[in-house]
Amino acid sequence: MSTAFGSPPLEPVRLDVRRELERPEARLDPSAAYARLRRLGPVLRWRTWTQDSLVITRYEEVMNVLRDPRVANDRRTLGDGGKGPLERWWTPSIMKLFLGSMVMKDPPDHRRLRNLVQKAFTPAMVDNLTGRVEQITAELLDAAARKPVFDLIADLALPLPLTVISEMLGVPEPERMEFRALIGKVLDPDGMSLTGFIFNYPNMVRLNRFLRRLVQLRREQPGDDLVTALVQADVGGDRFSEDEMISMVFLLLFAGHETTVNLIGNGVLALLQHPEQLQRLRERPELIDSAIEELLRFTNPVGTVAPRFVREDLEIAGFKIPRGSTLTLLLASANFDEAAFADADRLDITRSPNRHVSFGFGAHYCLGAPLARVEARVAIPALLQRFPGLRLAVPADQVRWRANMGLRGLASLPLAVG
Ligand code: HEM
Repeated sequence: MSTAFGSPPLEPVRLDVRRELERPEARLDPSAAYARLRRLGPVLRWRTWTQDSLVITRYEEVMNVLRDPRVANDRRTLGDGGKGPLERWWTPSIMKLFLGSMVMKDPPDHRRLRNLVQKAFTPAMVDNLTGRVEQITAELLDAAARKPVFDLIADLALPLPLTVISEMLGVPEPERMEFRALIGKVLDPDGMSLTGFIFNYPNMVRLNRFLRRLVQLRREQPGDDLVTALVQADVGGDRFSEDEMISMVFLLLFAGHETTVNLIGNGVLALLQHPEQLQRLRERPELIDSAIEELLRFTNPVGTVAPRFVREDLEIAGFKIPRGSTLTLLLASANFDEAAFADADRLDITRSPNRHVSFGFGAHYCLGAPLARVEARVAIPALLQRFPGLRLAVPADQVRWRANMGLRGLASLPLAVG
């Protein structure tokens, strides 16, 4: 990138990127859909009545933006007094809290919040969880084995990370499914329409109350869990404010399961659709770590990161990007970029090196990456071992996807075990 605007400016192609990526063909063959976007240009203009952003499609530019200090996560640092769609007076407080989460912050606030949570989220805590992840997986597989056809999402991919993150945070068991249902409704893309929004409002209020109750509970009854650690976190006299705490718990509960569900679900589907790779993994289980990295790259559980905001005029791949622009970074497209990965549209569980961008890059690199890896590294081999005859119970083109561009995941995945 440079700030020189010497040559005549290039005009980005205009396209409704969401509509493009949510077409059924794109769901079935995302690598072809992203290849088309990259062919249309490294920078596209995505303008609809709800938003206006410049979309970055290629690996090199996505990485450059993620490390560019002229690009911010917090829209308010633009200092233009403008308000994003989530900052209006009528915005439910839970949405405002999401805006206040560290994903939407820049230094020094971001560093401060991340330091506070990292203290409670130590690598040792994650390592210690392996045994518990194995135990939960075994119980879930026992239950699945009693059915001739089970749903990978409802029976394993969802309850495993949900149970793990809920236990880590100290969400009482009877309330976990309620939490899950609320999150699902609040983030439902249909809820983003005006009528959807109105119907969804009470759920947002309920979710807000749920999180406040949880923090209050752990203040009064400290436990051996992350919310207690957050309540007590103190770095050099610095503590979380009440709202920062709620934002953080919301972020961890949400990011802690909505994403890993997709890694396990999409990952198993990809292996079943590539029987030679599945066979290889069955024969050489020690390939599991590189297989997980390749499944992260190839199945893109998280397709885009939070929007980024341009603080100074800059140039990306010859396109003039004015200050104040919003950028959408297509991680999934970057992961399929032929310029960065040989045979990018081929699943290869031995791929090395594999510098995928599925966990993001730079200051906001996924805090939960070690946890997601542990869960997938336990769940996928356990599933394959338990069911040597595992196969899809419906034709691949009838598998149901959830309509959400940012998170790429299945609504259900019926599997036959006989
Ligand atoms: C396969 C699973 C996962 C994927 C693909 C994934 C992906 C990502 C990505 C791409 C980002 C960067 C966001 C940005 O730059 O705007 C991110 C951030 C984050 N992730 Fe994950 N994630 C996963 C699992 C988890 C888990 C299990 C947790 C939690 C406990 C978690 C917690 C977070 C947090 C707290 C951040 C924000 C970090 C920051 O802003 O500094 N993630 N994740």
